[in-house]
Amino acid sequence: MKKIAILFFVVVSGFAFFNFTSHPQISLNQTPDGETWAMPENVKTVIDNSCYGCHHSESKNVKGRLKLNFDHFGKEYSAVKSASKMKEILEVVEAGDMPPKKFLDNNPDKALTDDNKKLIADWAKAEGEKFMGK
Ligand code: HEC
Repeated sequence: MKKIAILFFVVVSGFAFFNFTSHPQISLNQTPDGETWAMPENVKTVIDNSCYGCHHSESKNVKGRLKLNFDHFGKEYSAVKSASKMKEILEVVEAGDMPPKKFLDNNPDKALTDDNKKLIADWAKAEGEKFMGK
């Protein structure tokens, strides 16, 4: 059993190395087509108002910052991680879970309108698919 595990590891790491070296021009935080992360201005305006405050590198909201950090897209987040973060964004926005309800009690102006929910959801879906490849 142990031998199989070791063999598996060697094969997988060999494959990963081959794959990596055969596409040296594509860095790990780009999409399979070599694109990087994109956030249109209208999406940025909404994210800045409703999300960024808790989800960036300097945020005092440690829990929020660790779960999602918008500053890490195109940098620390790999393409795979970016895709899964986009999926989470889509899910929380569609479920109406973010921004947190307690926060909205004191900051009602940070709530997402229905139009803004759709804007963020459509963007997160498209961006996630871009990172996953077709
Ligand atoms: C007041 C601070 C705050 C704001 C504003 C906020 N979040 Fe969060 N967010 C959090 C915290 C705290 C967590 C971690 C929750 C937990 O672990 O239970 C979190 C978690 C998340 C997660 C991870 C969910 C998961 O499944 O683990 C996503 C995705 C997310 N937020 C997206 C957003 C988006 C999109 C917005 C804007 C529409 C937003 N957040 C606005 C505090 C915030």
